[in-house]
Amino acid sequence: MTDSQVLSVRNLDTRFQTQAGEVRAVDDVSFDLQKGEILGLVGESGSGKSVTGFSIMGLIDEPGKIHGGQIQFKGEDLINAGDKRYKRLRGREIAMIFQDPMMTLNPLLRIDTQMIEAILAHEAVSRESARQRARDALGMVGISSPDERLRAYPHQFSGGMRQRVVIAISMLHAPDIIIADEPTTALDVTIQAQILYEMQKLRQKHSVSIIWITHDLSVISALADRICVMYAGTLVEQGPIDDVLDRPTHPYTKGLIQSVPNRNSTGQRLAQIPGVMPTMINPDPGCRFMERCVYAKQKCADEPALVQATDDRQIRCHYPLVN
Ligand SMILES: Nc1ncnc2c1ncn2[C@@H]1O[C@H](COP(=O)(O)OP(=O)(O)OP(=O)(O)O)[C@@H](O)[C@H]1O
Ligand SMILES: [Mg+2]
Repeated sequence: MTDSQVLSVRNLDTRFQTQAGEVRAVDDVSFDLQKGEILGLVGESGSGKSVTGFSIMGLIDEPGKIHGGQIQFKGEDLINAGDKRYKRLRGREIAMIFQDPMMTLNPLLRIDTQMIEAILAHEAVSRESARQRARDALGMVGISSPDERLRAYPHQFSGGMRQRVVIAISMLHAPDIIIADEPTTALDVTIQAQILYEMQKLRQKHSVSIIWITHDLSVISALADRICVMYAGTLVEQGPIDDVLDRPTHPYTKGLIQSVPNRNSTGQRLAQIPGVMPTMINPDPGCRFMERCVYAKQKCADEPALVQATDDRQIRCHYPLVN
């Protein structure tokens, strides 16, 4: 692990025991995150993006369990970090913006109380300066008249507004890592753009590293440095964002790109990947994408490994596309 590396995830394996069987939610996922880097984690619904985030945050509970792999934060092993360590870590060193803002907000407390407490939990500053910080943070995510807003309760906010409060809370401590789980999906485009801009500023000013989880390639392409593509719990391709989007080598990545509208496709039908994602309960051995892949051959029934294709690109496919 180099000094510039803040997070290293290796062979992460997270499973849930359900009545229907064991769900292999995250299966052999590996990636690194550098200081100040924005990593996009993309994949369709149910591909294991949130569970990857929860695993890093130490938030996998029964019936879920991390079965194997390593998660290292600045050289520190997190898989075996206890509750006490995680309590200090969460919010201050690694913050997660959850898909559902009410996972962060307490419905019974005013926004100011929650934000001030979040600051005071980790820092010995006066209440007044904590309040000022809270006010500034709300301003950063485009909430006008923050003073008045601070006195409100979560239910007095719209969904998009609540999401912005949660984003503001995640930025309070300028943590080393922010894991942002679809944070702007529910927001209108101008607010989205403002939040992406604030995130980029945060990265420039404080070298915050960001894992941006989304199924929206257009958001990622404007924001991220690198991309990890997940499919049915596995990581199928990763590399520098422009490189991967211009020259995808995994058939799934290519399909994903073709299903996104762009300027050239106006009036054209978008290509959809036929079929649906397979179940992750006792998955068949072999490539998970095989059933839907137009390039699949017999060998694809053997599980492909994630291999280093070039210095900065990895792929899990027996027949990578040549561009
Ligand atoms: N608590 C749980 N119990 C059982 N299975 C779970 C649990 N949480 C997640 N899973 C399963 O793990 C898999 C990955 O889920 P995850 O929430 O990570 O997907 P995702 O990529 O975040 O999808 P989305 O884009 O819809 O948010 C899914 O098959 C899901 O059903
Ligand atoms: Mg999710």
